[in-house]
Amino acid sequence: MTQGARITAIGTYVPAKRLTNHDLEKMVETNDEWILQRTGIRERRITRTDEYTSDLCIAAVEDLMRRFGIKVDDVDFVLVATSTPDFPFPSTASILQNRLGISTAAGAMDLSAACAGFVYGLHLAHSLIASGLHRKVLVVGAESLSKITDYTDRSTCILFGDGAGAVLVEASETDQFLGHHLGSDGSGAHQVYRTGLTASVNGVELTDSGRIVQNGREVFRWALRTVPQGVQELLNRAGIEMEQVDWFIPHSANLRMIEPICEKLNHPFERSLYSLVEYGNTSAASIPLALDLGIRDGRVKNGDVALLYGFGSGLTHAGQLVRLDFDPMVAEPTPL
Ligand code: UT7
Repeated sequence: MTQGARITAIGTYVPAKRLTNHDLEKMVETNDEWILQRTGIRERRITRTDEYTSDLCIAAVEDLMRRFGIKVDDVDFVLVATSTPDFPFPSTASILQNRLGISTAAGAMDLSAACAGFVYGLHLAHSLIASGLHRKVLVVGAESLSKITDYTDRSTCILFGDGAGAVLVEASETDQFLGHHLGSDGSGAHQVYRTGLTASVNGVELTDSGRIVQNGREVFRWALRTVPQGVQELLNRAGIEMEQVDWFIPHSANLRMIEPICEKLNHPFERSLYSLVEYGNTSAASIPLALDLGIRDGRVKNGDVALLYGFGSGLTHAGQLVRLDFDPMVAEPTPL
């Protein structure tokens, strides 16, 4: 029999500095009304010039430790999902291991799956624990996207923000990971990217700006096809109906995507959680931030079933069905 797992604690952090739609009106040819109508985003949080993804991760883990009255020094694996690591190498996870006083015997690595990264991280944590080889895995989704956003490109700069969310996944008698589904289609690698060592993929010459480039319309269409299908496959495999899902938590890219996806799934929109209105698209951080918003305002309760679904650059997507069973869900979170 494989070992069960559950999420026992959560913590989140966003930087203090706000970038509102009105601020963006002064930077590019855009306006608050367009941004709100086309995306649902009102503002985002932006890191200071001397604040990096590892700093956001540490602050999120500190929130987790304080709220749940625990330490993380006995964690045996650290996974950081991010597209904006402090360095290409060493990993942000290694920096966390040292700064959080986690044993040097613990595994530590970054995970590159863009906006699906946090859910990929949950899947890996569950797999590491189910194998019996690990018992306590720290999964963090964190981004400093403002550092790679092109603030002259109105089609992308209005979208992205910075933040971090951390969860602890621990071995448990009952398995609260109820099902997963994931996939990747590199034929769409040129639809949303930041160039690295090469500037060409799928026969397409990429814009070599060191900044995020996105074909928003294409990614929009792909996600509207892929996410409802993926959710349905996940549910079929888990033997669970959508009506049994208390909270649908898709990646917070755009409200105009979440609404039709809910419609296709016949899921009431009010039973979805998203973090984009106040934090924009925070890629790997968007799903834990959305879950924690629901926990912080009391909507989400222990025992609820949540369906998390990340999607984005790759093109990658990943879904995870979990029964929420925190330990317990009581303490006062750090104000965001
Ligand atoms: O997180 C990774 C995954 N990413 C996503 O899931 C993103 C998916 N895509 C989207 O969310 C949307 O495609 C966007 C929000 C990026 C764009 O919205 P859209 O409704 O698809 O707009 P569009 O690109 O089709 O542009 C419509 C018009 C264009 O003008 P014309 O050609 O019709 O004259 C754009 O130039 O809106 C114009 N436009 C803007 N106008 C004012 C584009 N950006 C802006 C802007 N302000 N910021």
